[in-house]
Amino acid sequence: MYNLKVVNISTTQLDWVDDLRELVIDQENHMLTSNSIPPLIYLVSNGQEDQDSGILGLTLCLRKEPFCSQIRCIFSRKYIPLDFSTPDDFLSQILRKDLAINVIDEEGRLGSYFHSPSQAVLLPSQHAFVSMGTIGDLTTLHWMQGFPHDDPSLPVQEEGYSPVKVHVAALNFRDIMLATGNLQLTARTNLPFTLESHLGLEFSGVTGDGDRVCGFSEGQSLATSVYANDDWLWKIPNGWSFEEAATVPVVYSTVYLALVMRGQIRNGESILIHSGAGGVGQAAIRVALSMNCTVYTTVGSKQKETFIKTTFPQIPPENIGCSRDTTFERMVLLSTGGRGVDLILNSLTGDKLEASVRCLARHGRFLEIGKVDLVSNKNLGMHFFLQDASYHGVMLDSLWDAAPSVRAELRSLLQSGLDSGVVTPLPYRLFNHQQVEPAFRFMGQGQHIGKVLISLEETPILAHPHVYFNPSKSYIIIGGLGGIGLEFCNWMTTRSAKNIVLTTRSGIKNAYQSNYIQLWERNGVQVKILQLDAADPVSARTLVHEAGKLGPVGGFFNLAMQLHIDLMKLQTPSGFSFAMDPKVKLSRNLGEITRISCPELDHFVVFSSVAAGFGFDGQANYGFANSAAERLVERRVKDGLPGKAVQWGPIGEVGAWHDSYNADFTRKSFHGSGVQSIASALNSLDALLGDPSPVMLSRRTVDADAGHASTADDLSLVERIAHVLGHMTNHHKLNMSSKLADLGMDSVMSMEVKQILEQDFNLFLSAAEIRNCTLKQFQEMASNCPKNKLVGASKLKVQAATAGLVQLNFIKTMSRSRFIHDQCVHPLNSLAHTRIKERELGVKMDPGHQGTIFIINSLEGPDVLNLLAGYLLLPAYSMQIPKEIFDSNNFNELSDFYLDKIRETEPKGPYTIVGYSAGTFVAIELGLKFQETHEITKLILLDITPGRMRAILDENFGKDRTHLDESELIVMMVTQVFGFDRNLVESILRKEKNTEQQYKAMTQLLTTVFEADMTVDDMEEVMSKRALTFLKLMDQYHPALKFHEPVVLIRTTQNLISYDSNELWGLDEFCTQTPTIVTLDTTHSYMLTDPFVKSVANYINP
Ligand SMILES: NC(=O)c1ccc[n+]([C@@H]2O[C@H](COP(=O)([O-])OP(=O)(O)OC[C@H]3O[C@@H](n4cnc5c(N)ncnc54)[C@H](OP(=O)(O)O)[C@@H]3O)[C@@H](O)[C@H]2O)c1
Repeated sequence: MYNLKVVNISTTQLDWVDDLRELVIDQENHMLTSNSIPPLIYLVSNGQEDQDSGILGLTLCLRKEPFCSQIRCIFSRKYIPLDFSTPDDFLSQILRKDLAINVIDEEGRLGSYFHSPSQAVLLPSQHAFVSMGTIGDLTTLHWMQGFPHDDPSLPVQEEGYSPVKVHVAALNFRDIMLATGNLQLTARTNLPFTLESHLGLEFSGVTGDGDRVCGFSEGQSLATSVYANDDWLWKIPNGWSFEEAATVPVVYSTVYLALVMRGQIRNGESILIHSGAGGVGQAAIRVALSMNCTVYTTVGSKQKETFIKTTFPQIPPENIGCSRDTTFERMVLLSTGGRGVDLILNSLTGDKLEASVRCLARHGRFLEIGKVDLVSNKNLGMHFFLQDASYHGVMLDSLWDAAPSVRAELRSLLQSGLDSGVVTPLPYRLFNHQQVEPAFRFMGQGQHIGKVLISLEETPILAHPHVYFNPSKSYIIIGGLGGIGLEFCNWMTTRSAKNIVLTTRSGIKNAYQSNYIQLWERNGVQVKILQLDAADPVSARTLVHEAGKLGPVGGFFNLAMQLHIDLMKLQTPSGFSFAMDPKVKLSRNLGEITRISCPELDHFVVFSSVAAGFGFDGQANYGFANSAAERLVERRVKDGLPGKAVQWGPIGEVGAWHDSYNADFTRKSFHGSGVQSIASALNSLDALLGDPSPVMLSRRTVDADAGHASTADDLSLVERIAHVLGHMTNHHKLNMSSKLADLGMDSVMSMEVKQILEQDFNLFLSAAEIRNCTLKQFQEMASNCPKNKLVGASKLKVQAATAGLVQLNFIKTMSRSRFIHDQCVHPLNSLAHTRIKERELGVKMDPGHQGTIFIINSLEGPDVLNLLAGYLLLPAYSMQIPKEIFDSNNFNELSDFYLDKIRETEPKGPYTIVGYSAGTFVAIELGLKFQETHEITKLILLDITPGRMRAILDENFGKDRTHLDESELIVMMVTQVFGFDRNLVESILRKEKNTEQQYKAMTQLLTTVFEADMTVDDMEEVMSKRALTFLKLMDQYHPALKFHEPVVLIRTTQNLISYDSNELWGLDEFCTQTPTIVTLDTTHSYMLTDPFVKSVANYINP
């Protein structure tokens, strides 16, 4: 018979909120006043009627609240009879497993939800462009989906522009400089504000009319298609290939602009052309030679010198100098009798620039095409102009907004060059579209002669998703004037959205909102702001109707929220209703209306929260509301409609979280989620919206950070507590002897302080202790306790993950750090940290504590002992099962390893030795060893003894285990340690031929089923090596000596095998004193949780 209460959860009738609140209050009272286990509370949503139930988010949030650990949920997508008074097999199975979240899918299968990392989605794309993840890191060059320029359904774009299907794109040094971060985009002037990527200037391809053209654009030409200005397109001469044509536009345009339009070059003049083997150099030599000019040139290598000599035999060898030093100055001046040259085409810098200037003749024209010295604002010296010389900075990008006559002149110069044959293709090196990074690196080395090209004839290209909005459709954004809403709308306008409808209930409130709206309007975006509450069905219809006037509705984005934070014991139905209106009611209204009236809808997006995915205390109603919206989205996707819910972690800089928590300092994490910048959140939208999964997660992981903390983490604990309590500005005036309760701490503040203590200071205190501690005590604790390093990210790591129903029979979060321990000894409490510090500094800081507690842990990591550690009055350490277990033949040998570790940590006793679960075996051996040196005060055994273990094995395998089949051990391990169903495990093992294969099958099962960051190798280590080796050693263990010091056994009643209250669990085998036996009416795993943990601590403490 199970001791439980059941609450039926509904999204339409909220009277259950009152019942649940009362049950939660009862739980609190029970836990505070009794030592027995309080009843389980099962929240149940059963059947079709409530398909969009928010029960998952509700349960996750509640389980984060104090005194709510007994809450479980059953969320069944199809109706199944659930009679808790006489459970059938199915319900019994659920109750036996005792999992927090039980989901039953439409086919009646039991499972749960979990987050799994989403794979990067690559879509075959006709339109794609090269973008860069991190400027300066060429490995992050990648293909992104591009705008479908030639889609006939899109409105005709500007006059004078033509879509071109690119066949070959050419790289220019500007691309290399941008990609390597050596050229900032500010060096350019009039970038169109929608330009996503700036890489690529030059291309050849075919227009919509079928003309073969080459040309250049303002950027984004490293793409499969471009929208090109007709002024900068030239027809490709007959007989030329696309590759040849792509070598021409930029270099020859630069040369005509420099030599002819700026330099006014005349027949027969002399010219120094630097880097003559480069693209511009060769083009310049051709144009200059076509005008019978005397050409001097420089090159950077012997190979290039040979190239010039063979390509341009008209240039005498003595006119070819070196571009790596200033010797060309002597060459030019000697050859011209000291006069110098009429024109210089320069791209050299530093002393070579100065030497070049000295090579200019009177009335000369200096034509600078390099950007480095210009961008870095180098001085040239005014004496230069005494020569009546002129200096021209020649920038091809200055032509983007040049007068029509200037454009026309350049256009015709290049055209006549093409017609006359002066313009001829340059040599090139061709890469394919998968070799973008090598192409950039090749060009960056500066070894090439001529041009570097990328062939783009092969489409589609696999590209990362990149969202574009249809300029002729309209988009509805609820909450668009909110913190994130404004930034989101702005992002949409940069992705070609032209018709935006925003809703607000209260209207425009500040200048920031007005400025954005003006900006969008200036950029040709139609913005309609409707003051209405779309949770109201009539208003929702008005909204869709009004949006339809701007264009067919292409998207609905729900960024609305109302937050009412409070612990469940203070919640009411109206609080839930308040949180649900913008999430559930509103999404339902719009969902129904758009199903019928918006056939062209491409997006139906709801902004959800990690509160629904992981749970936050105090946010049960918000978690419930978001979770319900997620289920609604899932249902839409199942019906073949667009739908996406994104669980966001806390977002920085703007929005509700920032406004609540970040007003005066930058906080870096919240309840284990790192804070994601708004820019990163918007960036991740491409991947999130491009992925087919209905529910996704985007948050910054805290462990992504490295380096030193700043801001929030640099504040002292007392300052941070003062901030939470609202005393940030006057914290230095606070009386340090005040208890937090006296400083006005309420329950929500208490949760926040608890969060700070645990996350950033490794301090684990109960709510009551937090209330009763003084500021001074916190100050002392903090000084003993190194802060966790959390922040200072150099790079953002955004974990995007899909959430989906996964068929499995047992779920428990498990991480590598929980089972694989590279470190054997872990300090557990602040007193242990003080000890470590004392040793490091050689100073005695804590005169009060004599003795040390060592807890020999079982298979799990030190985390299971955290709560216990908070109650211990001596420095306490957890000791993990080390790798050395593999080499040990028995516990006597293994305990020598532990003994050395204890001596290294705390060279002298007295020691209190505690064995937890499987750790009791080593603990007994250590007890025997420290008994000899008189250093043990007591031995405490938690819930296992050798005799008890043998009884368990007897019951599982019978008394004769000499020929025990290893697979039987595996079954026991997997069913009893990991909680799997015995039939399932046996049926899997039966299929495997040998033990090795069986290990593999089990590790496969475990790694697939658990949300684990463990590899198969890790799992194999835990399974086949540590756990089973341990199990075998335990089976064979009998203490060789007797123990004469006090022994305490703390055992639990609800256990793996039957419990007999008179049994000594085999303690008489080795104890000479009568042991103290304490019995707790709970399970093995609950003995270290509230309220039992306190009594465990009492027996361990002196
Ligand atoms: N900020 C975060 O860190 C974070 C984290 C996770 C998820 N999210 C989600 O991201 C979205 C945006 O959050 P935010 O931080 O930008 O919130 P916010 O600044 O508070 O904006 C929310 C907006 O919702 C509007 N709203 C509320 N109820 C509405 C209704 N019934 N009809 C129309 N508009 C309504 C409010 O506008 P009016 O008062 O003018 O009507 C408000 O501007 C929310 O859905 C939130 O759940 C945010």
